[in-house]
Amino acid sequence: MLAAADAALAKARALHAPVLLAEVIEALSPARGGVYLDATFGAGGYTTGILDHGADRVIAVDRDPEAIARGLTWSDAFGGRLDIVEGRFGDLEELVETPLAGVVFDIGVSSMQIDQPGRGFSFQKDGPLDMRMSQSGPSAADIVNNATQAQLADIFFIYGEERASRRIAKAIVAARAETRIDTTLALAEIIERQLPRPKPGQPHSATRVFQALRIAVNDELGELARGLAAAETLLAEDGVLVVVTFHSLEDRIAKRFFQKRGGKAARGSRHQPLATEDVPSFEIMTNKAIRAVKDELDVNPRARSARLRAGRRTDAPALALTAKDIGLPVPPEQRGR
Ligand SMILES: C[S@@+](CC[C@H](N)C(=O)[O-])C[C@H]1O[C@@H](n2cnc3c(N)ncnc32)[C@H](O)[C@@H]1O
Repeated sequence: MLAAADAALAKARALHAPVLLAEVIEALSPARGGVYLDATFGAGGYTTGILDHGADRVIAVDRDPEAIARGLTWSDAFGGRLDIVEGRFGDLEELVETPLAGVVFDIGVSSMQIDQPGRGFSFQKDGPLDMRMSQSGPSAADIVNNATQAQLADIFFIYGEERASRRIAKAIVAARAETRIDTTLALAEIIERQLPRPKPGQPHSATRVFQALRIAVNDELGELARGLAAAETLLAEDGVLVVVTFHSLEDRIAKRFFQKRGGKAARGSRHQPLATEDVPSFEIMTNKAIRAVKDELDVNPRARSARLRAGRRTDAPALALTAKDIGLPVPPEQRGR
């Protein structure tokens, strides 16, 4: 049994090179011991790294049942030091109780999810227009075929920063009046027809709309906001929070969170002490986001857009976080159109 877990672990290690692993481990410094939370388990690259570097225990969370099932084939190899939990990190406070020595978020979609056409995240190969990380709830096809034209335009503009959002939304509504749009290639073709051909080196014209739909289907920005707030509550004093993001919308939220909670927004003085809500709950460890160095980019081009931000928990109490604090956009369905 253990031999099977060891073999499965060796295979998992060989298959996956996690982004910015050395930098994540340096920030978390698991050799201090204690319990660490990997909020985005994926293929387990960070989890195994944290365990290899001396953590007493890792609690690993993922909302994708396939990621959980794969991890369970090798978790026994760590002899009880690893607990794998299926759930969303927006619900962390219900999933995890222990005061934590470190929390890491590696936000976004995994290569396992992107590479499987059946999950519907990619337009490189045809597949069902799905994009649900949890494999439950409304899919991208449900949104594309049922949302109003104004809602679609808002989704593409807010979550994809797509300037042709209205034109693309109109084309989708016209196309779906003829026949349902149920596959990734059918949607990509509609988008391609609306946009000029990208210049060499520019991303495929459907990239921004696919990103936007993925964010909407999985409520990714809302999850990030709830996850960061939960991490603030669950971390012990001196515990470290590490956030790795892959696009500007996510990075902006992480940056604003650390600015707000890291005491950058307001400074006190002897004469005017800080208000409770301004006492920093994190000491910022990364003044600028850390990015992958050339050696890593040479072997893992996906690391190109990765940004790492980290902070160390102070003894200040955790406070409620508003959407405004971190610049969370108002979701399209709440915009009253
Ligand atoms: C970029 S991958 C993580 C890769 C991981 N660091 C590794 O080394 O293998 C992101 C993972 O986070 C998961 N995920 C995304 N949003 C989530 C959420 N709100 N709650 C839990 N898991 C989430 C995805 O299902 C995916 O498996």
